Amino acid sequence: MPARLDHTIVHSRDRFASARFLAELIGEPEPKSFGPFASLPLDGGVTLDYLDAPAEIVSQHLAFLVSEDEFDEIFARMKERELPYWAGPMHEKPQRINHLFGGRGVYLDDPDGHSIEFITRTYVID
Ligand SMILES: [Fe+2]
Repeated sequence: MPARLDHTIVHSRDRFASARFLAELIGEPEPKSFGPFASLPLDGGVTLDYLDAPAEIVSQHLAFLVSEDEFDEIFARMKERELPYWAGPMHEKPQRINHLFGGRGVYLDDPDGHSIEFITRTYVID
C-alpha cells in the first residue's frame, strides 16, 4: 500500500515569517496557527508545519512542481521582491533559471536558508 506524505516539519527562526514567505510566493493564504506550528497546506494534501527551531537550523531542500503559469506568477513575485535566485542547487548561475527536462526551474533561499526550488517538469528518472 503506497504511503502518501501528509505533513512535514520545517524548522525556522520565526515560523510565521518563514511560512508567510513561501505562502506569498506561491499565492497561498496566510498560514494557520496549529499548536506550535504555522501550518501551510499545499495542493496534493501535504502540509508544511513550520516550527520555531529548538536548535541550529539545518538547511532542507523543498521542491515544488508548478504549472508554467504558476511559475510565471511565482517568478514575477521573486523579481518584484528582488530576491536572489539561481539556476543550480549549489548557487550556480545567479539570477538565471534552468530549462531541465524541457521545463523551467529556479532555486532560492528562504529566510532560514532552506533551499526552495520551483520546477515545471518533474525530474526524469529511468
Ligand atoms: Fe531538487
